[in-house]
Amino acid sequence: MAKILVTGGTGYIGSHTAVELHNAGYEVVIVDNLSNSNIKILTQLHAITGKWFDFHEIDLQDDKAVQEFAEKNTDIDGIIHFAASKAVGESVEQPLKYYRNNFYGLINLLTSFNRKINFVFSSSCTVYGQPESLPVTEAAPVQKAESPYGNTKQIAEEILAETAAVTPDLNVIALRYFNPVGAHETALIGELPNGVPANLVPFITQSAIGKRGPITVYGNDYDTPDGSAIRDYIHVVDLAKAHVAAIKLLETGNPNGNYDVFNIGTGKGSSVLEIIAAFEKVNNEKLDYKIGPRRAGDIVQIYGDVQKSNKQLGWKASLDINEMMRSAWEWEKYIKANPF
Ligand SMILES: NC(=O)c1ccc[n+]([C@@H]2O[C@H](COP(=O)([O-])OP(=O)(O)OC[C@H]3O[C@@H](n4cnc5c(N)ncnc54)[C@H](O)[C@@H]3O)[C@@H](O)[C@H]2O)c1
Repeated sequence: MAKILVTGGTGYIGSHTAVELHNAGYEVVIVDNLSNSNIKILTQLHAITGKWFDFHEIDLQDDKAVQEFAEKNTDIDGIIHFAASKAVGESVEQPLKYYRNNFYGLINLLTSFNRKINFVFSSSCTVYGQPESLPVTEAAPVQKAESPYGNTKQIAEEILAETAAVTPDLNVIALRYFNPVGAHETALIGELPNGVPANLVPFITQSAIGKRGPITVYGNDYDTPDGSAIRDYIHVVDLAKAHVAAIKLLETGNPNGNYDVFNIGTGKGSSVLEIIAAFEKVNNEKLDYKIGPRRAGDIVQIYGDVQKSNKQLGWKASLDINEMMRSAWEWEKYIKANPF
């Protein structure tokens, strides 16, 4: 049973990935400093899997602690590196927090695990900006980042590519996620946004439950079929399974070499108004929303070409928008009834 270190494993995507790794027969070790997650997630993971995951509260910015962890855990075969700061708006206010956390964590891991290791990195479709043609493929040019957060993802990809080029023992896959939404089917884990959600789906569920006021649709005059912005929403459980597929490809040897990049989305765009309609229909809930002006920095539309991940990772998203909206709503209701 291969052992996989999941950094940021008590966070939103990390916790779902821990479950899918366990389901696939892997042994999971979690490192998290709990800066954006709750220790109670370990209890939730136990309720889902029947397993208490090996957990270490470590700040990846602490080079000595990471070194010590790596020396004590020589049996780790792979790392899935989620731990990072991820709020775009906050990154504009506090760029150094983002450069420090997102780079030191990555560099400390690569330095301390300087041996044969499989490494999966959380990147983002933000690297594409507004692509010239859609669906966007992995070959599309990376565009100047709109925020320090986006810049950390672009530079982290470069750090990994340059390090892999001179480190044959380091096998890297960077996954460029589109828009992760939804929650586990048990409703025991899901997204726990800090403060007012900047993303559409957590705002919808918080508005529906009465925690927030009306939803604002930022622009209905874009050049799209219904005028609202389009994104490629991906169910977090499908996304979690993509990480298992990436680890498996690294284990068998990636014919493309020791650094590779994959889009992880459904390949289909959905508009803000379509998401609102799907939520209302599947949950039989009426949403309170209004049309507002376009939001600075928002791109018009993006969705991914996922042929490469379908073929080479042998992975395909299977959960649709309805399941995304249903599970997101079940989780919001669960967390209201059982606050952490
Ligand atoms: N959620 C999205 O929309 C999205 C989209 C694209 C990429 N990503 C990337 O995916 C990854 C996971 O995102 P998420 O939505 O699960 O975020 P999250 O905030 O829920 O999870 C990140 C986890 O990392 C931990 N962490 C942060 N800094 C740390 C440090 N220095 N040491 C140890 N632990 C630390 C946090 O406590 C948290 O539990 C991030 O790298 C994020 O940038 C997320």
